[in-house]
Amino acid sequence: MDSFLIKGGVPLHGTVAISGSKNAVLPIMAATLLTDEPCVIRRVPDLSDTRFMARILESLGAQAKWEQGTLTIRAQKIRGYADYDLIRQMRGSICIAGPLLARLKEARVSLPGGCVIGARPINLHLKGFEALGAKIGIVGGYVDATARKLCGATMFLGGRAGSTVLGTDNVMMAATLADGVTVIESAACEPEVVDLAKFLNAMGAKISGAGSPTITITGVKKLHGAEHEVIPDRIEAATYAIAAAATNGEVTLRGARADHLRAVFDKLDETGVSVERRGANLVARRHGRLTAVDATTLTYPGFPTDVQAQMMSLLTLAPGISIITERIFESRFMHVSELARLGADIEIEGPSAIVKGGRPLSGAPVMASDLRASAALVIAGLAAKGATHVNRIYHLDRGYEHMDAKLRKLGARIQRVAE
Ligand code: EPU
Repeated sequence: MDSFLIKGGVPLHGTVAISGSKNAVLPIMAATLLTDEPCVIRRVPDLSDTRFMARILESLGAQAKWEQGTLTIRAQKIRGYADYDLIRQMRGSICIAGPLLARLKEARVSLPGGCVIGARPINLHLKGFEALGAKIGIVGGYVDATARKLCGATMFLGGRAGSTVLGTDNVMMAATLADGVTVIESAACEPEVVDLAKFLNAMGAKISGAGSPTITITGVKKLHGAEHEVIPDRIEAATYAIAAAATNGEVTLRGARADHLRAVFDKLDETGVSVERRGANLVARRHGRLTAVDATTLTYPGFPTDVQAQMMSLLTLAPGISIITERIFESRFMHVSELARLGADIEIEGPSAIVKGGRPLSGAPVMASDLRASAALVIAGLAAKGATHVNRIYHLDRGYEHMDAKLRKLGARIQRVAE
């Protein structure tokens, strides 16, 4: 298992190219199952999650060809069965269920199970499929979804924590080939949902309202092949902006979209960090002393749960008391005990973490637990004095394209150590 060895205390300077969005491309890859024609997806990040999704599609009978960030997928003949051994390794892969149900009228997909950040239920996905007329059974850990035909329906997909991103994606994909009109109320508004809708419309779907809480899908008979360029990864951009601030450097985010990151940039501004437009790019740097702030994670356009851990690392450096409240996932604080190993003073009180910031961090060996927690540990290691060894970085390789190389280009002293 590889690890990162970071010698901290070096301000990051330079330009980082933001990759295509992991959470946009995964459902877009799944959507290629909706047609027997080839689809071409551009700006696909080279991640273990994207490679794994391609393997899942291949296990269903599709052919996938990579060519330097461009992925061509043809799902000419497919089957509707996805094995537990594949699905459990990447919970995001549940988004193959909607396309399989739409195209084959049957899908047998393993239930993904929980993970370290929370229980990750899929009740809202299934509620949507049922509203479209599918019969759902849970047998031996698998979801069996079948339908003689899918019929458009109006449904409410709000849940305990608000909307669901992959649930909205799944039902939207299933509805593209249904008879009649589907209206999803309390739909997720994330830019990744909008990007999927754009790709589906390029395939011949009729979707309007994506990006708002009401999405309308008018079913069509057939979808065709299409080409698409994936949006830049807003979470990767936020991670590098925070790394620039944590090390008191200045980093240009090439290709990032400010309109996808308003809540993050607003919170960073309150913390003493500006992200300003310079030509076609965005530049992140401190504009004063770091200040303690409160932040609560919400669905889009609120502050994203996927940036909560990285923000916490930054706030350990801001003198005063910051309160970070996690409203999306129930146990997304695995990074707290690891940050404490670097000298951070953080207490958990229910859904909130109370950060007493301002103490300097010092390097230590730490263990990565999930993707964003790992990014938070890398940021803390870059800001800390001395050496930090981040173990189990396979989590990072799932969602950050060539992170060590990108950080080295910004001047960081970071090495990948193979074990
Ligand atoms: N939820 C339900 N029922 C459902 C589905 C979700 O109660 O049927 C709850 C969840 O338990 C959670 C909340 O709704 O409390 C939001 O979950 P959501 O369904 O939106 O999460 P997701 O679609 O499974 C995607 C991203 C996550 C990101 C969340 C929230 C992908 C592949 N994953 O997950 O990304 O945190 O949306 O924005 O798009 C990451 O990249 O590190 C990551 C975990």
